[in-house]
Amino acid sequence: MAEIGATGNGGVNRQALTPEDTSGRRLLLEWAARRGYTSAVDPIGNLFIRRAGSRPALSPVMTGSHLDSQPTGGNYDGVYGVLAGLEVLETLDDFGVATERPIELVVWMNEEGSRFSPPTMGSAVAAGAIPLDRALATLDRNGVNVGEALAMQIAQLPPLERRPLDATGFAYIEAHIEQGPILEDENCDIGIVSGIQGLHAYQVEVRGAEAHAGTTPLRHRKDALVAAMSLIARIRSEIADPLDVLRFTVGKFEVAPGASSTVPGKVTFLIDLRHPDPDHLAQTGEKILRLCSGQVENCGVSAKVLLQSTPVQFDEKVVAVVQEATARRQLKSLRMISGATHDAKYMAGHTPTAMIFVPCEKGISHNEAEHARDEDLAAGAQVLCDAMLAVMSAEKN
Ligand code: GLV
Ligand code: MN
Ligand code: MN
Repeated sequence: MAEIGATGNGGVNRQALTPEDTSGRRLLLEWAARRGYTSAVDPIGNLFIRRAGSRPALSPVMTGSHLDSQPTGGNYDGVYGVLAGLEVLETLDDFGVATERPIELVVWMNEEGSRFSPPTMGSAVAAGAIPLDRALATLDRNGVNVGEALAMQIAQLPPLERRPLDATGFAYIEAHIEQGPILEDENCDIGIVSGIQGLHAYQVEVRGAEAHAGTTPLRHRKDALVAAMSLIARIRSEIADPLDVLRFTVGKFEVAPGASSTVPGKVTFLIDLRHPDPDHLAQTGEKILRLCSGQVENCGVSAKVLLQSTPVQFDEKVVAVVQEATARRQLKSLRMISGATHDAKYMAGHTPTAMIFVPCEKGISHNEAEHARDEDLAAGAQVLCDAMLAVMSAEKN
């Protein structure tokens, strides 16, 4: 999978609904078809690969993650959870294990949010947190919308069954690299994830006026870039968190018209804001929206909310199943909250959900140098398999 969209620097660029994403999905569907699994797609492009159970009407035990990447992404973020899930399905076949419930592997559409904002778009739509039509109308920087890009992708995939939006299953367990340094620092094999911190995403627009760079005195300018820089500095100082728990990032920043001799007339940037405490997150979000309205340095400012996702606690019963599976394999584990966001967050509102983390080197992620050790990846996949089976048998006991 890492060959698809390989950058040549050790990582991948396989952003949602690009030709590379399509190739990754096609490869996965080939692997699934070889094993006789059926595949379906929902209206926002989430893919579902199903290993049949003996009682098809029962709700499935689910796993999954994403194949899309950041523009300079690593080889493990998302991909690991998808391939660990496929490994579970194949292992059950290889060992002749039949289950009553179907088992489903989900590949969520646009988890990363780098081409189309916000992140976790596919799961948010499946869970009803973002309206389908709004998501389909979301534009990339070239003016292509999700609906068009998705139609193009589906036309290039083998024929898929269509299914409605639905985030309900019997249980959902997602495996992922930790993307932070804690498991490695604590010398632990597995992270038992009990929840995910909250995430708000805002799009801010600063409107000035284009002017000639050689003739326009500074006092006459409405320079949208100067205004945006001072706005960001002001936000950072007003929301400063002495505990360093709050995460504030401006990762996308566009200057228009983007010419060296024209005073910028417009700047658009995205804010990614995260905190584990819902009140702290909400209050900080309100402060940011207040600061991003009205006038800054002679320029008009407005902000739009792209996502307001509150912190989520996973289902204690499923978390306990993961914990027990880890203990039975005599792996050293640590209970933790996820700093990164995941599609499991939206599943958690509809399906009993948990996550399994494995360590990654120095916690490096969203970086082409991302790396995880084979033995850690294998241990995580084993715990995933054990926990998916255990969650089904727990029901019978
Ligand atoms: C997921 O990719 C995140 O940004 O947390
Ligand atoms: Mn991920
Ligand atoms: Mn990611």
